[in-house]
Amino acid sequence: MALSYSPSFPLSRPRRTRQNPSIRAMVSENHLSPKDLIWPIFITEGKAEKTAVPSMPGVNRLSIDLAVAAAKEAISLGVSTIALFPATPAHLLDEKGSESLNPDNLVCQATRALKDACPDLTLIGDVALDPYTSHGHDGIVRDGYIQNDETVEILIKQSINQAKAGMDIIAPSDMMDGRIGAIRKGLDEAGLELTCIMSYAAKYASAFYGPFRQAVGAGNRLCSGKETYQMDSANSDEALREVGFDLQEGADMIMVKPGMPYLDIIRRVRDNFNVPLFAYQVSGEYAMLAAAFENGWLNREKSILESLLAFKRAGCNGILTYFAPEAARLLQK
Ligand code: PBG
Repeated sequence: MALSYSPSFPLSRPRRTRQNPSIRAMVSENHLSPKDLIWPIFITEGKAEKTAVPSMPGVNRLSIDLAVAAAKEAISLGVSTIALFPATPAHLLDEKGSESLNPDNLVCQATRALKDACPDLTLIGDVALDPYTSHGHDGIVRDGYIQNDETVEILIKQSINQAKAGMDIIAPSDMMDGRIGAIRKGLDEAGLELTCIMSYAAKYASAFYGPFRQAVGAGNRLCSGKETYQMDSANSDEALREVGFDLQEGADMIMVKPGMPYLDIIRRVRDNFNVPLFAYQVSGEYAMLAAAFENGWLNREKSILESLLAFKRAGCNGILTYFAPEAARLLQK
């Protein structure tokens, strides 16, 4: 092992390579760049509409026109990938999440408008039923159980619907079994073989999604947890099994979620699979940092960059983060 080549003190003085910024930069092992950052945004109906998400200070739900302006700004900062999440109007919710299949739903409209205005923008579409269901679950509920195979049939159609609107990357976040293979087959049969799949492969049933659920309005609809489909946070080997399944089923990229509390999982996936790997610094991670910043308890700029660099060190190719444009701006300094 490389460690054994180091002589002991005083021949070795690790502080030698820390003595000034230039030498530190020479030996730095990991780097953060705006290209590593993917920006999740919340879309709402209307025009010139901007509503704050109370549990995510600084984050707003944006109407499509404002989302286009925000995307242009993000691109100018070097952030060229955006993930879209709709806040579906309450009157369009139902038990089966039917609005997810409407070719003119909020996400499809936003996709067309964004691609029209910014052809070089890469768009990621979340695939799951929770923004569209009256009960807030990611699938069809019967007898108190989230039905797997029946849900997958809808997810295939949801994916095709988004891909036809111009979505570049389909990101199933539902954790139904077998959905990656089924969606891949469905996309291919629809002539959409170039649409990528980024699988939320290791997605944990996490308390850190709370603010997101408030942002898309799913939180107060939900009357039970998601533990029967999302992973148990006690498990780590199981994450590798999940990643293996999704790769065999045709996933192009893999995601681990949440991020900061699961850096160990990211490292294990990186050590075991040579695939493009992403992580989601989720809403609750944003909220706890934002709360500390508001109280003056943490240095905002340093903490944002340190938290994001940790993902690179753990083995990620990129990070979904609500801090994306702000971090990109800091990196340009
Ligand atoms: C939808 C979805 C969720 C998130 C991303 N996609 C919520 C959930 O699974 O309940 C969470 C993102 C975040 O917390 O920032 N299935």
